[in-house]
This record gives sequence, structure tokens and C-alpha cells, in this order.
Amino acid sequence: MHLRHSDHDHGPKTVKIKYLVENPEGMIDEDHFTGTDPNAKEHEFMAAKGEHLLEVAVENGLNIEHACGAVCACSTCHVYIEKGMECLSEAEEEEEDRVEEAPGLQINSRLSCQCIIQKEGEIVVRVPAWNRNAVKEVPH
Ligand code: FES
Repeated sequence: MHLRHSDHDHGPKTVKIKYLVENPEGMIDEDHFTGTDPNAKEHEFMAAKGEHLLEVAVENGLNIEHACGAVCACSTCHVYIEKGMECLSEAEEEEEDRVEEAPGLQINSRLSCQCIIQKEGEIVVRVPAWNRNAVKEVPH
């Protein structure tokens, strides 16, 4: 699925994001991976304010599922924000409704494509082991 990127120019990449990957198997896109060890369960990538957490991951070769292409129409990009929720945009109603469909819902659950980086700070994102395509069938 084509990934919808945040649609404005970003500044310099000054924000470090740590991704904790519960199950790294099959999640690394070797052609785009910018980290140090594709088998590691922790990856750090630099991001710019204005980018969302999904695009930062995917552009650095960490392939978090994104069945709807980042338009808030699935829940496959579900992650847990372990640290730095205050550095991210707040969830809007559409995201809150959608994230409730994600398996393993927690208080710190977010859809990574809807989390815009707004401030510098320590941001730690956990990618659940069951991150997978859970797109809902929409009746025609
Ligand atoms: S990729 Fe579908 S909601 Fe984020």
C-alpha cells in the first residue's frame, strides 16, 4: 500500500525516535534500512518535526504495517507510546474511534500514522509482536 506522507516541508531531523520491536522477523526492509542491526529489537532513527511516526519507521526500513496507506482507515499501524506522548500531536476523534479496533488496546495505544512529531524530547515507540494486517472489510 502506498504510504501517505505528511504533506509539508519538514525541518532538519533533530528528534531521535527509539522503536522497540517485539518481533523483528519480517519487519525490516533491507533496501531502506538505515539502522545498525536488522535483527535487533531496538532501532533509533532521526526524525523531523512534522513527520509522523509511521513514515519515519518505513523510510528507515522498519516496515510497520499500514494497510490503509496512513489515512486513518485501519488499525494496522497500532503502536504503544512508551515515552514522549507529550511530544506528539493529540489523538483526534477519528483516530480514537479507529484505534479501539486494534488488538491489545492499552492506555498508551496510538495509530503511528496519526502521531505527528511536534516537539523534541525522548520518544519511545513499541511495535507489538502482532502488528499485522487487520484491515476491516468494508461493505460495498
Ligand atoms: S495505516 Fe491505516 S490507520 Fe495508520
